[in-house]
Amino acid sequence: MKFLIYICLLNVSLAMLNVHDKMYVQLDATTPCVRRLNGTQSFGCTSSRGGNVGVIHLAYNKSELNWVLNSAEAESYIVGLPLYLFTLENLKQLNSSERITGVVVLQKESRENIKYFSTEDRCPNRYSGLAGPPRRKSICTSENPWNSDGSEIAMRRWDMPIFFTDNDHTISQIEDCFKKFNLPLSTQINRSLCALEMSSHMFASVNSATCLRRSASRYNINPLRYCDIMGGINIYSPLIPFTEFREPKKEYIIVSARLDSTSLFYGRAPGALSTVTSLVSLLLTAKLLFNMIQNTSEDTKKNQNVLFILFNGEAYDYIGSGRIVYDMEQGQFPYKEEAVKLENIALFVELSQLMNNESIVYHTYSEDNNGRSSVTLPFINKFNNIAKARKFITAVEDTENRFPPSSYQSFLAHRNNTPGCIFTSYHSKFQNRFYHSLYDDAFNLKYKYANNTKIDRDSMQGFVAEFSNVLAYSLFEQITGKPAEQSYNNTFDYADKLMYCFVETLNCEFYSDLLPEVFSPREATLLDYYVGVVNQRARHIVDLARISLTYLMAKNISVPNADECAKVKTPLYTYWIPAQKRCIASAVNTTEASSPAFSNQEYNYKEGYSSWTESSWTMTNVRMFLKPSPKYELLVFVTGTFIMVTSFVILFWISHNARELFNYPHLITSSNI
Ligand SMILES: *[C@@H]1O[C@H](CO)[C@@H](O)[C@H](O)[C@H]1NC(C)=O
Ligand SMILES: *[C@@H]1O[C@H](CO)[C@@H](O)[C@H](O)[C@H]1NC(C)=O
Ligand SMILES: *[C@@H]1O[C@H](CO)[C@@H](O)[C@H](O)[C@H]1NC(C)=O
Ligand SMILES: *[C@@H]1O[C@H](CO)[C@@H](O)[C@H](O)[C@H]1NC(C)=O
Ligand SMILES: *[C@@H]1O[C@H](CO)[C@@H](O)[C@H](O)[C@H]1NC(C)=O
Repeated sequence: MKFLIYICLLNVSLAMLNVHDKMYVQLDATTPCVRRLNGTQSFGCTSSRGGNVGVIHLAYNKSELNWVLNSAEAESYIVGLPLYLFTLENLKQLNSSERITGVVVLQKESRENIKYFSTEDRCPNRYSGLAGPPRRKSICTSENPWNSDGSEIAMRRWDMPIFFTDNDHTISQIEDCFKKFNLPLSTQINRSLCALEMSSHMFASVNSATCLRRSASRYNINPLRYCDIMGGINIYSPLIPFTEFREPKKEYIIVSARLDSTSLFYGRAPGALSTVTSLVSLLLTAKLLFNMIQNTSEDTKKNQNVLFILFNGEAYDYIGSGRIVYDMEQGQFPYKEEAVKLENIALFVELSQLMNNESIVYHTYSEDNNGRSSVTLPFINKFNNIAKARKFITAVEDTENRFPPSSYQSFLAHRNNTPGCIFTSYHSKFQNRFYHSLYDDAFNLKYKYANNTKIDRDSMQGFVAEFSNVLAYSLFEQITGKPAEQSYNNTFDYADKLMYCFVETLNCEFYSDLLPEVFSPREATLLDYYVGVVNQRARHIVDLARISLTYLMAKNISVPNADECAKVKTPLYTYWIPAQKRCIASAVNTTEASSPAFSNQEYNYKEGYSSWTESSWTMTNVRMFLKPSPKYELLVFVTGTFIMVTSFVILFWISHNARELFNYPHLITSSNI
C-alpha cells in the first residue's frame, strides 16, 4: 500500500511542476501583421493553425541577430527586434531560416529617435491608376520612387507571425524573462528557456480569386469565410443640391481627398499626414464655400457646381475612386437620376499630404488636350493671386514632370483629358517619412492642440485653415466669375478643433458639443484609418467624416423639435441636433467604395480595378511561458511511461486480489440488509 501512495505523490508533484512550468503569461498591447491578397498573390503574415512557438531571443544589434541565425542551439526561436533592425534584408534572412518561427518588434527607443519608418511600397499603388490597364504608363520606378523610405515589408509574403508592441510593461515582461532564463546564451541547450507562443493564423491563402472561390464553394460546409473583400464607404456632397443645380452644361468641379490610410500592424493606422491634413482642409473648404454660396444673392449665377468627395480604400489600388469612375461610366454615380459623367468634370482638385512647408506644390498631368493651359493653370492663377494678397504661401509647379500616386489617376486612366491638379507639400518624393505606418501621427505631424488659445498661421492647423480659406475663395471665383468677399471667418478655430479629433482623440470638443450622447469618452479614442472590409459595420472614421461634413455643409431649418424636423419636406437629409436644439438639412450622401472587380462576391478580373481581399482569422494572441529543456521533457516522458506501466500492473494486481483486499463478501451482505 505504501508503494502505491509514493507513486501517487510522485505523480502529483511531477504534474504540478509541469503545470507550473507551462504557466502562460498573456502579453497585452501587441498588434499583429495580417494577411491580405490581391488578384494574383498574397502579402503579410500568418502563424500556423495552433500558433508558432519559439524560445525568445532579443537581438538589439546585428551581432546578436547573427547569433540566432548561425549559432543558436534550441530547436526554434522567436526573435525580438528593435525598429532599426526591422528591415527587409534582415526579415528575409529570418524568414528563410528554419529555426526562426516568428518576429516581434519591440519599440522602446524614444519617438524623437525614430527618423523614418514605412513598410509601404517605394512606389505606392504601382500597378494601378495610370500604371494599370488600359494605359500602363510607367510613372514610378524603384530607382526614382515617391516613397523613398519604404522598406516594402508590407508588400511581401511572410510565412511567420510578426507582432509589434510599444507597451513598456509588455516589453519589460519579455526582457525580464529573457534575461532570467535565456542568458547566458552558450548554455541554453540544457535549461528551461523562456519562450513565446504567437497566434495569428490567417485562413486565406494563394490569391483573392482562389480564396473567394473556396469560401463560396459548396464543399465548404462550415459557414466560415476564408477572406473578405476590402472596401468601405465614399462620402460626397454637392455644393449646390442636385435638384437646385439646373445649368444645361452640368459642369462639376471635383474637390477630393482620401479618407483612408494603412499600416502593417492591424488597428494602428493614424494617417495624420497621409490623410488628416487633407481631409480637414477639404472639410473646411466645403464649410466656407457653402457659407459663401448661401449668402450670395439669388441672381448670382453659378456656372459650375462643386462636388466634394472623400475617397475610401485608396491605399489598396484606389478602391474608392476606381469604383466612382466605374459608376460614372455606367451613368450611376451618385445615382441614375442625377448621373454625373466623366465628361461633366470641368476641373479635378485633389488635396494630398498637405503640411506647413515653405510652399505648396501642384502637380498636373500633361497629355494633349487635358485642359492644362485653358482650365487648370488659370485656376492656379486665381489661387496664387488670392494667396499673394493674403501674404500666404504660393503654389509652385512641380517641375519634375512626374505624376504622384493619387485618386486623380483613376480618372485620368479612363479619361486622360480630365483637367485638374493635385495640391501637395512635396516635389519629387514624399515629405512624409512615415507613410502608411503607425508613426504617421500627431507627434510626427508636430501638431499641438491650441485649445482656444491664439493659433499661429505657421502652425499645422493655421496652415490648414489658411489653405482652406484660399482654396474656398478661388473656387468661389471659379464658379461665380466674381471675386469672393473675404470677410472674417472662424476657419482657424475649426481647423484646430477638427484636427484634434482626427489625430489626437475622439473625446474632443467638436464632437462632444455636437453629439454628446454619441461621442462620450470611449476606450478607443484614437482613430484607425484602415479601410477594412465591405459589409462590416461602418468604421468610426467614416461616421465621423460624414457627420462632420454634414454639420459643416448644412442649412438651418427653423422648427421647434425633432418630430417637426423629421417631417420637413426637402430633397435633402434632415437631422435634429439635440445638444443645440437645432434642425439642419444637408445633401451629404455616401456611395459604396468596393471594387467593380468583385461582383456577386467573386473576383472577376476587370482591367485595372482593385482586387484586394483581407484574410479572416479567429483570434490573435501572444503568450509567454517557460519551455522545459529537452532533457527535462525526456524525463517527464520516461517517468510518465513508468507510472503508466506501474499503474497497470498495480491495477491488475488489485483487481485480481480484490476479494481479500476489500472484504468483498461482507460488503455484499451489508447492502442486502
Ligand atoms: C498583385 O501584386 C503583385 C505584386 O505586387 C503584382 O505583380 C500583381 O500585378 C498584382 N495583381 C493584381 C491583379 O493587381
Ligand atoms: C551587441 O550587444 C551585446 C549585448 O548588449 C554586446 O555585448 C555586444 O558587444 C554588442 N555588439 C556590437 C557589435 O555592438
Ligand atoms: C518567406 O518564406 C516563404 C516560405 O519559405 C517563401 O515562400 C516566401 O517567399 C518568403 N518571403 C520572402 C519575402 O522572402
Ligand atoms: C482645454 O482648455 C480647457 C479650459 O482651459 C481645459 O479645461 C481643458 O482641460 C483643455 N483641454 C486640453 C485637452 O488641454
Ligand atoms: C442619397 O443617395 C441615394 C442613392 O445612393 C439616393 O437614393 C438618395 O436620394 C440620396 N439622398 C440625398 C438626400 O441626396
